[in-house]
Amino acid sequence: MKLRKFVDALPIPPLLKPTLRSGEYTYYEVTMKEAKQALHHDIPETTIWGYEGIYPGPTIEVVQGEKVFIKWMNDLPEHHLFPIDHTVHGAEKEIPDVRTVVHLHGGRTEPESDGYPDAWFSKGFGKFGSFFQKSVYEYDNQQSSRALWYHDHAIGLTRLNIYAGLAGFYLLRDWREQSLNLPSGEYEIPLLLQDRSFREDGSLAYPVQPKDNVSGIFPSIVPSFFGDTIVVNGKVWPYLDVAPRKYRFRLLNAANARFFRLTLDSDQLFYQIGTDSGFLEKPIGVKSLLLAPAERLDVIIDFSNLGGKKITLKNDAPTHFPIGDPVDPDTTGIVMQFRVTMPLSTIDTSVIPDFMGPIQWLPEHTARNNRYLQLSEEKDWYGRPLFLLDQKKWDDPITEQPHVGTTEIWNFVNTDNDDHPIHIHLVQFQLLDRCSFDVDFYKKTKQIKYTDRPIPPHAGERGWKDTIRCPPGFITRIIIPFFPYTGQYVWHCHMLEHEDYEMMRPYRVLPPS
Ligand code: C2O
Repeated sequence: MKLRKFVDALPIPPLLKPTLRSGEYTYYEVTMKEAKQALHHDIPETTIWGYEGIYPGPTIEVVQGEKVFIKWMNDLPEHHLFPIDHTVHGAEKEIPDVRTVVHLHGGRTEPESDGYPDAWFSKGFGKFGSFFQKSVYEYDNQQSSRALWYHDHAIGLTRLNIYAGLAGFYLLRDWREQSLNLPSGEYEIPLLLQDRSFREDGSLAYPVQPKDNVSGIFPSIVPSFFGDTIVVNGKVWPYLDVAPRKYRFRLLNAANARFFRLTLDSDQLFYQIGTDSGFLEKPIGVKSLLLAPAERLDVIIDFSNLGGKKITLKNDAPTHFPIGDPVDPDTTGIVMQFRVTMPLSTIDTSVIPDFMGPIQWLPEHTARNNRYLQLSEEKDWYGRPLFLLDQKKWDDPITEQPHVGTTEIWNFVNTDNDDHPIHIHLVQFQLLDRCSFDVDFYKKTKQIKYTDRPIPPHAGERGWKDTIRCPPGFITRIIIPFFPYTGQYVWHCHMLEHEDYEMMRPYRVLPPS
């Protein structure tokens, strides 16, 4: 159904209040609950699943070095909001339909607290998965400032749990960020971008099966979900009243599969200052911003001298990026609106810094191992598309086992037609380059024939990352230091329908050799 645009104000998720704050640590309790929430003025309230019963979840704000414990609890109903495909890996009929586990995306987290997909638990910890170890997760927050996010990661169900609302921001602060004099407080706005589809009664709609369901399976997983409505911070096409000054936006693509390529209809520049995992060295002015699922961007928009103007944030990324259906300019092509209607209460002394700080670039010769990992589309037993990493399934034996303290280069050899955003838990990495190759020749011979010179990273990707776009027909090379923990983690495509159906692999960080 089609809803009016810019009728609701953009909500800002509230900060989560600690249960206990001592000199040594901060302790939070977070309960996942079903609730009703108004997502648009013209439809009845929507049933959502939210951390603390709100969607998006409350923002967790921490400072570097602060030790944080969070008890994540599940008080959700016993029946899922959406149809469950029991043929998907880890989603067998015998295990509870409603199971959850929380991953802090981008966090350098010990394995027991990382939200391993098989560490799920049901309501009241009644049942739990084989990897469940504890209910109070520990985060030591040793990383520098950046926007992390927390979201559900239950095996075979992540797409549905996040779609129901289980995602929120986790902002890590440090002294360097403080010293930069960026727009802050009410002038720093998190934007969690998603697409959704609604029914007339206000409920969220998620497909029961693909359009051309040849499998005979019902319900049956869709290869990727695309909604017809854009939702920001849990409101449909919202507006934000701003003052004529600089604002800092923490952008997060929390959609299941949709890419966003953002522009401002005022033809203004965005000043990008950061990536997934902290600041760039220098800001860059860009007219468009590309965000794959799970990527974050740190940007400043300057509304000075635009008093009285209405500025629309638009999207022109096709589905199945880069080759699918174009956006509908009247629906998925629109994200939200900024209205420069507020008075300037004080003079804007915040800045767009010239330099945020040096990044330590990893030289290629430090890499101990060079892995080639294919991203491919195959067919499953029932004739449905099946996406695989290195042609292996979730249950196949572990093949990626770096030693702690070593650095590796991973080459993602994409022989599929989609751009897959690959995320690796625990680590941050740097993009080396992308190089086109002969896909058909590779498929026949498993040998690489490059067809051009490598393309160095675009200025906006020259920083630390935890999720990287791997375009079709290219080999994307990243360099990754593995530390400080040993143990079992996962890496996967962050299109949620892909990670739920075999495009996810365990990997293990081994003790020093
Ligand atoms: Cu944002 Cu493994 O996930």
